[in-house]
Amino acid sequence: MQEKYIDETKQGEAFAIAEKPGNGKKLFLESYGCQMNFSDSEIVASILNEQGYNTTLKVEEADLILLNTCSIREKAEQTVRMRLAQFKHLKKEKPNMTVGVLGCMAERLKTKFLDEEQLVDLVVGPDAYRDLPNLLKETDDGRDAINVILSKEETYADINPVRLGGNGVTAFVTITRGCDNMCTFCVVPFTRGRERSRDPHSIIEECQSLWNNGYKEITLLGQNVDSYLWYGGGPKKDFAKASEMQKLTAINFAQLLDMVAVAVPNMRIRFSTSNPHEMTEQVFRMIAKHDNICNYVHLPVQSGSDRILQLMNRQHTRQEYLDLIKKGKEIVPDISFSQDMIIGFCTETEEDHQLTMSLMREVEYDYGYMFSYSTRPGTPAHKKLEDDIPADVKQRRLAEVIALQGELSRKRMQGYVGRVHEILIEGTSKKNQNQWKGRNSQNAVCVFDKLEGQKLGDIVSVFVHGNTQGTLLGETV
Ligand code: SAH
Ligand code: F3S
Repeated sequence: MQEKYIDETKQGEAFAIAEKPGNGKKLFLESYGCQMNFSDSEIVASILNEQGYNTTLKVEEADLILLNTCSIREKAEQTVRMRLAQFKHLKKEKPNMTVGVLGCMAERLKTKFLDEEQLVDLVVGPDAYRDLPNLLKETDDGRDAINVILSKEETYADINPVRLGGNGVTAFVTITRGCDNMCTFCVVPFTRGRERSRDPHSIIEECQSLWNNGYKEITLLGQNVDSYLWYGGGPKKDFAKASEMQKLTAINFAQLLDMVAVAVPNMRIRFSTSNPHEMTEQVFRMIAKHDNICNYVHLPVQSGSDRILQLMNRQHTRQEYLDLIKKGKEIVPDISFSQDMIIGFCTETEEDHQLTMSLMREVEYDYGYMFSYSTRPGTPAHKKLEDDIPADVKQRRLAEVIALQGELSRKRMQGYVGRVHEILIEGTSKKNQNQWKGRNSQNAVCVFDKLEGQKLGDIVSVFVHGNTQGTLLGETV
C-alpha cells in the first residue's frame, strides 16, 4: 500500500550505500511505512556503518537482516510477517545470520516477537537505535536481544544520517519524534512515545550540510510538525516546568521554518505532517514570506463529520478545519492541500460519509491518502468502541471517496495547465527514458522532454500544456 511520498515501489526495497573498509559484515536493511521510518533507517545505517557494517542489496549475502516496520494498519503488519517468512530458508542455510525487527511493530509487540517468530533474534524500538552495537554483541553470542525502551529526549540530533537510495536531490530531515495527540484510532503514540523536538542548531547544520552535498529540497519531518517547540530539550509535555528564560527563548515551528528558510535560501523546503488543531496562521505567513518554502500543506482531516471527529479525539471541528483552509488560501493564494481520510470508523453512518465527501468538495484537495479503518489493539478506539462497519460497506465508501478524490485531483491538475511552473528535476520518468520527472511548488508531479544541458537537481521553467489525473505534462520554456 502506498504511503505518503514514499514511492510505492520503495516499500520494502533495500538500499545500499558506498562500500568502505569495515568489519567484513553485510547489512540488508528494508523499510516499510511512513517517511519517518525511511528517515530512521538512515540513522540506523549510519550507526551500523560506524561499526563497520557495509550494506548489501542481496539478502543471501547478509550477515544481518533488519526490517524497519510499520504498525499503522493490520495490513502493514501482515506484509512484514510475510516478508519474515521468506527468510526462513536463508536462516537454515546460514544459522549465524541475525534477523532483527525495528520500528513500530518491534515497539508494539516487544518480546512477543521473539516468542512468536522463531526466526527473529533482535527487536529494537524506534528510540533504541543507539543501543544496536551492544545488542548485536548479544546476538553474536547467540542470545536474543531486545531494547524497546521509549525515550523522552532521544532525537538522534548528533547522528549524521547516511542517505539511503535517494536521488541525491531530495532528503528528509527529522525535527520532532513521537506524538502526544492520542487520536483514538492511532497506534503511533504507543509505538513512538512522547513528543519531543530536536535542537534547531542541529537541524540547520543538517540542512546546510545537505545543501553543500548537492541536495535541492528538504522535507522537515515529524508526526506533528506544527507542534515543534524547542526550549532546551525534553518532552513538550514538560514545557510548563521550563525556566522563564527557556520559555522566553523557546522556538516554535513557524520560527524554525523562518530560520531554515534563511539558512538555506536556495533550498526548497517542505514539511510533513501538519495537524489541523496545531497548525497556525503564522505558518501560512512563513510560506508566503519565503519563496523557498513550497506552497503546499499536507493537512490530514480523517473525516468530515463532527461526530466522528469527536469520537476520533481530533480536537477540531469541521468548521474550524474549513476556516483554517480558507485562511491558508487567503494568505497563500497559490496553495495546495492534500488529505488523509479514514473510511468506516466506528459508528460511521451514511450521513457521516456524505459529510466527508462534501468536505472534500469544499476543500478541493490536490490528492489524498485514503484507507479503511483498521482497528489497532491497545488504542482507545479498540478498547472503547466497536469496529462495527461491515467490510463491504467500508470498501464501498472507500471506493466512493477514492473516485471523488480522483475527480478533484484531475480538476486541480487542470488548473495548473496553461502556466509556467518551476519544476525541480528529481529523476527520469518511469514511463519514458527521454523525459524528466519533478514537482512544482504545490507538489504536483510534472513530466517533460529532456533537453541538452539539463540535469538532475536543476530547477527549470516548464510550460504545462496538459494533464492526467495525477500528472502534469509540460515542456521546458
Ligand atoms: N501525524 C501522522 C499520522 C500518522 S498515521 C503523520 O505523520 O502522518 C498516518 C495516517 O494513517 C493517518 O493520518 C490516518 O489517516 C491513517 N491511520 C492511522 N491509524 C489508522 C487506522 N487505525 N486505520 C486506518 N488508517 C489509519
Ligand atoms: Fe496518530 Fe493523531 Fe498523532 S493520527 S500520529 S495520534 S496526530
